[in-house]
Amino acid sequence: MKKIGVLTSGGDAPGMNAAIRAVVRKAIYHNMEVYGVKYGFQGLIEGNIEKMELGSVGDIIQRGGTKLYSARCDEFKTEEGQLKGIDQLNKFGIEGLVVIGGDGSFMGAKKLTEKGYPCIGVPGTIDNDIPGTDFTIGFDTALNTIIEAIDKIRDTATSHERTYVVEVMGRDAGDLALWAGLADGAESVLIPEKPDEFHEVIERLKRGHDRGKKHSIIIVAEGVGSGVEFGQRIKEATNLETRVTVLGHTQRGGSPTATDRVLASRLGAFAVDLIIEGKAGRVVGIERNQLVDHDILEVLNQKHTVDFDMYRLSKELSI
Ligand code: F6P
Repeated sequence: MKKIGVLTSGGDAPGMNAAIRAVVRKAIYHNMEVYGVKYGFQGLIEGNIEKMELGSVGDIIQRGGTKLYSARCDEFKTEEGQLKGIDQLNKFGIEGLVVIGGDGSFMGAKKLTEKGYPCIGVPGTIDNDIPGTDFTIGFDTALNTIIEAIDKIRDTATSHERTYVVEVMGRDAGDLALWAGLADGAESVLIPEKPDEFHEVIERLKRGHDRGKKHSIIIVAEGVGSGVEFGQRIKEATNLETRVTVLGHTQRGGSPTATDRVLASRLGAFAVDLIIEGKAGRVVGIERNQLVDHDILEVLNQKHTVDFDMYRLSKELSI
């Protein structure tokens, strides 16, 4: 294979640039041509494609966001959209595609592969919700952004002796909330995988209050419900002075951590290795610090879940 393409799709994640850089540099190292597809599958349909050189990816390893831009594209969910995309790839003579994104993006990659067009998926999402990899690109950075914010919130929560609800991202996955809860010593964590544990939060708050604890941090993953509503319910149930912070899209930006940069570099380069080996319809990942690849269909058919031992630990450490 002499010409490959790379795109980023879905919600952006810090470290995507490092992954693009790795794909481009590794491919050029192996004497291939690389084409960047802008705006994900939307750009693919529209033929928004340009050749990338070594210099195209200079000075981006430390930048958040994605140099190739991203989009969520409904048209690509249709057969017609997919065929338009394949037409564009053929027009540019691109023989294989690296898709950096989350499960929605891998669905697009799977469709292309089924239509005979080889794709490799690279997991890039802050949610850490892709089966077949211990970590996704962007998770570590988002986690550190959350921790920095909660450390600050804790200062003011302590000074004012208030209860704070912090809503973090994670539509279906509680990883960000859970890891942040453990790293920050939060009093309670509410995750989509255990949506019905609100009563426990109240019990724990009351227990703490009876012991003389004057401030608390409750982390809520957005998938469980609105932080603002939980704040109101907590106030009603306990009469404690409560404030709410929704961290929102701050979690998606910022310079990637060293961990994310290294992960992205390894996964991006490994995706090119697989293309060189003639593999198609695979998703790369990291398990126990080893690079792995799995069938894209297997990845899409499995459901990611949080580590329930860690969830139990977070409760044990915040009795
Ligand atoms: O999938 C990543 C993610 O950041 C989720 O955590 C969040 O629910 C969603 O994307 C937000 O998407 P958008 O930026 O399109 O509103």
